[in-house]
Amino acid sequence: MGFQTEGAIAILTGASSGIGWELARLLVQGGARVIAVARRRERLQALRDAVMTQTSGTADRPSRGVLTAVEGDITEPEVRQRVIDVAHEIGGGRLDLLINNAGIGAIGSFESATEQRMRRVMEVNFFAPVELTRLAIPLLKQGQAPVICNVSSVLGHRAVPDKSEYCASKFALHGWSDALRAELYPNGIQVTLVSPSTTRSEFFDAVIDSAPREKRWGLGSWPPDRVARATLRAIRRRRAEVILSCGGKLLVYADRVAPPLVNLAVASRRPEHR
Ligand SMILES: NC(=O)c1ccc[n+]([C@@H]2O[C@H](COP(=O)([O-])OP(=O)(O)OC[C@H]3O[C@@H](n4cnc5c(N)ncnc54)[C@H](OP(=O)(O)O)[C@@H]3O)[C@@H](O)[C@H]2O)c1
Repeated sequence: MGFQTEGAIAILTGASSGIGWELARLLVQGGARVIAVARRRERLQALRDAVMTQTSGTADRPSRGVLTAVEGDITEPEVRQRVIDVAHEIGGGRLDLLINNAGIGAIGSFESATEQRMRRVMEVNFFAPVELTRLAIPLLKQGQAPVICNVSSVLGHRAVPDKSEYCASKFALHGWSDALRAELYPNGIQVTLVSPSTTRSEFFDAVIDSAPREKRWGLGSWPPDRVARATLRAIRRRRAEVILSCGGKLLVYADRVAPPLVNLAVASRRPEHR
């Protein structure tokens, strides 16, 4: 059975911009009741306004999608608990979809970075989704064709230099997703790992220690709405794993076939080798 957005109860983290914003829009448009989480209150308000305008519906085709905003930092345990409490109230103990999308990046050499940088990236990109999922599993067990969708990255399949913290966090998310998928199989809960490549969002404005040269879109980068549509397609089909772009697929498959060549290629792209 596929996943149906109509009437689904969904938690979505990182809804205030980029991929998350577009996912929220699509989910509500599809008739889901979405609990949207992020830190920026004004952005969540703007999202609610945008979504309500979009879903005001017509007399013969009323819209049933609704967005409830929960403002807060998902690295804080009390925020995660609040998200679950709100979902419990809205769904009456049932949850159909959890999208762990919130994420941050860091750029720069590992040697020159701090312990704090690694810990922050791991907290947001790994420990927060892991612990939110732990709280959500009892609700997901009551869901209809339930899905946990973890938004990872191509860099969770193939690591590159100067993004060691980010790659580590997405590799961790990848490994944990594989293990969790097998654990939750008897409960009928699918774990969908989505791996986008460069996406034209605010992501690069928020990276820790970004050098200005890094704030640019690579060739073949996708707009967030395209990533969101592909993500929702993977959720509807209850896919285990999708790598979104052709460039991303090429990198991952080349790395499987000839890792030494890819090692050489990524190392030679560092500034000191140019
Ligand atoms: N952009 C890319 O090139 C790219 C490529 C591959 C994968 N991805 C992944 O795609 C996901 C979405 O990224 P994006 O490109 O849409 O970036 P984005 O526009 O920067 O969105 C990130 C979202 O995460 C939220 N967020 C960050 N830290 C948070 C925290 N501590 N608590 C709650 N919410 C938090 C932000 O909201 P607030 O700031 O309001 O809290 C924002 O809504 C991330 O997991 C990212 O790793 C991105």
